Amino acid sequence: MTDLDPFRAIDRAADPAAIATALEERGRDARQKRLRLGFLRAIPVRRGDTVLEVGCGTGVILRDLVPMVGAGGRLAGIDPSRTVLAAARRACRGTGITLRDGDGAKLPFTDGGFDVTLAVTVLLHVADPGAVVREMARVTRPGGRVAVQDQDFGAVVVTHPERALTARILDGVVDRLYEEPFSGRRLPGLLREAGLGDVRVRTDVFQDTTLEPYTRTFLERRAANAVRFGLVDAPTAQRWLDGFAPVARAGAFVFTVNYYGAVGVKPGANGRGGAPRTRRRRRARRAGARR
Ligand SMILES: C[S@@+](CC[C@H](N)C(=O)[O-])C[C@H]1O[C@@H](n2cnc3c(N)ncnc32)[C@H](O)[C@@H]1O
Repeated sequence: MTDLDPFRAIDRAADPAAIATALEERGRDARQKRLRLGFLRAIPVRRGDTVLEVGCGTGVILRDLVPMVGAGGRLAGIDPSRTVLAAARRACRGTGITLRDGDGAKLPFTDGGFDVTLAVTVLLHVADPGAVVREMARVTRPGGRVAVQDQDFGAVVVTHPERALTARILDGVVDRLYEEPFSGRRLPGLLREAGLGDVRVRTDVFQDTTLEPYTRTFLERRAANAVRFGLVDAPTAQRWLDGFAPVARAGAFVFTVNYYGAVGVKPGANGRGGAPRTRRRRRARRAGARR
């Protein structure tokens, strides 16, 4: 089942370069950008933070983070795919971002070096998401934040005249493609199991009512996979795809995907989430000024 997910091992996929291009296209989509910036602000990522992104792909999120951490911050990304890392190195040139080849379940970093670790639309694709979250927690400093966000493919809504066919294609494909298609709703539990505290959940909805190119590509991929998995034949898949345009022309199209984000705090030496480093620095400065 899992080998069918191209994000599990991008370099072994039929067209790795096309996956890198698709990640950049998603990155440019204005609604996707608003959605991920909302999540990054909610973590929050602060000026001066040292941040690790696990499964950084082409570096879309790392580039969003550059102005958020400012000149005093440090950004690092890790990904097992050489193809996306090469694209990330081109796209992130001159930003000071450090990029490394590696597996989220075996992070090549010492304990406690990061203020924030995050993984965005990654856990859905890995064999053992718990192992990745535990590693993220290990390399986060006490009081630092571990943040994860994933779609939940049990929460996709789309308007189509053939409801049963739509369910057969959407549910059938995700069951065969992903180890855990309902990854989004599992995230807070994964953080708690990894020993993180103060866990918060945030749900963002990607919504399209006009059948944008991003949505069209999403539905085309689902249709192609439905044929590949023998869920429907090619003419039926085409009929299903053709069914969306009239709905959109009638102004009746709705497509939503829920993105669940969860943020947990690594317990500090006192057993609770410690004060963020910037706050500690400010306090130390104030104490110094008083002396
Ligand atoms: C859907 S992409 C998301 C990329 C990026 N976070 C973004 O939102 O643009 C999933 C990424 O997870 C990476 N990935 C897959 N398995 C991984 C693992 N075991 N450890 C770390 N990253 C992994 C893939 O190579 C891919 O770049």
